[in-house]
Amino acid sequence: MKPERLQKILSRAGIASRRKAETLILDGRVSVDGKVVSELGTRAILGKDDIRVDGKAIEAETEKVVLAFFKPRRCVTTLHDPQGRVTVAEFVGDFPLRIYPVGRLDYDAEGLLLLTNDGELAHRLQHPRYKVPKTYQVKVRGRPSEAALARLQQGVSLEDGVTAPAELTVLKDGEKTTWLSLTLREGRNRQVKRMCETVGYPVLRLRRTKVGPISLGALGTGKTRRLKSKELKALRRAVGLEK
Ligand code: URA
Repeated sequence: MKPERLQKILSRAGIASRRKAETLILDGRVSVDGKVVSELGTRAILGKDDIRVDGKAIEAETEKVVLAFFKPRRCVTTLHDPQGRVTVAEFVGDFPLRIYPVGRLDYDAEGLLLLTNDGELAHRLQHPRYKVPKTYQVKVRGRPSEAALARLQQGVSLEDGVTAPAELTVLKDGEKTTWLSLTLREGRNRQVKRMCETVGYPVLRLRRTKVGPISLGALGTGKTRRLKSKELKALRRAVGLEK
């Protein structure tokens, strides 16, 4: 077996996301063969070297799981919130494996959030290279003009650059509010809200219904379900982890 970077080993073993694993290393909480390692380039072999986090040995095999979770509004996408707000942990806290959210949904946004202990999968789902599509149902104030809809589809100039082409359909329009379906292949911070606001139609409600091939389906608010093996395969295929 070839030596691999420690952060990759830790994330694959379900210890933490790759970014979090880097923090663990930098914080001096990781040791290899009894020596604390605090450099990110360090390589080791899982199953051969004695790799420990906070003194606890890393197991070579941990079952990989992915859960679909319907995040309610007024819930933060973390496992712990210093401000004491409701977190994802309150809904999945008793799950027997250490799982964490893939990416983020805003506090006041709702809908599909994937949770996993598979660090490599989580990393790829968030990486811009894989352009994983995410679909949102968006309620905006007013009735967007044709020009505004075209801009949302073709690209909106935001302070961090022009957005990539998006798929858009009008689901329901009324005098005061309109429901849109918007599919993005990038995931910048507060992107849907910033796009709609920039073209003149502020977001009143935001619900994610799909991530890659995974749909929210009939899942109820605050509920979780384990992905079926067919779904898991399709998800892994979407980020090049399966043929
Ligand atoms: N876009 C937003 O504005 N917020 C989210 O939570 C997700 C996408």
